[in-house]
Amino acid sequence: MLQELVASLPLSMILSGLVSATMGPQLRRPFVSVPVRQLLFDGSPVPALKSLLRLPGTGAILDGLCGRGLCGSPRDLERLKNGRFPSMMYNNSLDGPYTIDTGKNDIDRFTRVESYKGKSSLDYWGSSYCNMLNGTDGITYPPHMERKDRIFIFNKDLCRSIYLDYERDVEYFGISTRRYVPARAVLEDPAVNPDNKCFCAPEDHCLRAGALSLSPCQFGAPIVASTPHFYNGDPSYLEAVDGLAPDKRYHETFIDIEPLTGLALNGGKKIQINIDLERFGSLDGMERLPPVLFPVMYTNETAVVNSALAAEFRDRLQRPLSLVAAARWLLVALGSALLLLAGLMYLRRHSHPTTKAGQCPLQ
Ligand SMILES: *[C@@H]1O[C@H](CO)[C@@H](O)[C@H](O)[C@H]1NC(C)=O
Ligand SMILES: *[C@@H]1O[C@H](CO)[C@@H](O)[C@H](O)[C@H]1NC(C)=O
Ligand SMILES: *[C@@H]1O[C@H](CO)[C@@H](O)[C@H](O)[C@H]1NC(C)=O
Repeated sequence: MLQELVASLPLSMILSGLVSATMGPQLRRPFVSVPVRQLLFDGSPVPALKSLLRLPGTGAILDGLCGRGLCGSPRDLERLKNGRFPSMMYNNSLDGPYTIDTGKNDIDRFTRVESYKGKSSLDYWGSSYCNMLNGTDGITYPPHMERKDRIFIFNKDLCRSIYLDYERDVEYFGISTRRYVPARAVLEDPAVNPDNKCFCAPEDHCLRAGALSLSPCQFGAPIVASTPHFYNGDPSYLEAVDGLAPDKRYHETFIDIEPLTGLALNGGKKIQINIDLERFGSLDGMERLPPVLFPVMYTNETAVVNSALAAEFRDRLQRPLSLVAAARWLLVALGSALLLLAGLMYLRRHSHPTTKAGQCPLQ
């Protein structure tokens, strides 16, 4: 009964009730410091949570929450029951399943995501445009890319597809690659790029440039993804928080692709996670918080080819290809030489009889 009741309540109501009950006194300070490891993997201990969970009925609340997919794996549930608040317990977790195109019928579709979690489009957003599953998962790309080509990536952390455009050529250990960076239009203010209107959540609360609400795919939590330090974002987000200094060198997402093979030789995926702070008059200690996008952390996922792999790439692919190219010209040269020789020999054999024959009647 209680379980059904919990399942029918708005999540924010359950959570704020749970939070006030367990952390009321702690909330006089709205911020708590936790080690990164606890934030990312272990969950942060909330002493009151354990005693709360011993009260009758709270087991049912927990099961109600878990019924909404909030608890993650059984191991996460175990942690919750041990009084650790599940923050982002992504260690050893699985994502997907993804269905990927092999490129057998159309090489341009190589490793494209055809479906995610059994569906060929997303269902987080308000329109079919925003729900499109576009491109690959960002690890592999189709071969034979042109500079003018736009790269589409489905990014499950952002719960949407994004696109990147060519910026410039970059070389690694003698291999030339092309750098692609996200087009500004991707996270542009919906007032400037109306395509992005369907990413407003709720519909009448659009964020400005550089930010994307993740609440539709995070159980309604006020989580906002952005570029680190609001790089390329709306200046008002930057000015609202002290200590930020956006810098293209560090805070821009990029990918360097070898065009012939579509292999990514260097890449950095950078996402900042923010909390969309609101003034909760009803919670002690929260009534003076300004409504800002409060940065919690940013991730820097990078991968770069090392010199050994680059050498292997050159030996196995670039050298044979340049040998083929060289051999081609060699064969063309040889063929032309033989043709020329044949022509000369023909001329030599036929020139004497014809001149003689031509001279005969004159003599
Ligand atoms: C992550 O999971 C693996 C396998 O379960 C485990 O060996 C490792 O210690 C875990 N790491 C953290 C930080 O929890
Ligand atoms: C998906 O790809 C199409 C082109 O194939 C493009 O027009 C559209 O903008 C993309 N959608 C998103 C959300 O990136
Ligand atoms: C991101 O990680 C890469 C590789 O470890 C490093 O070279 C780069 O400086 C990092 N960027 C930032 C902003 O920390």
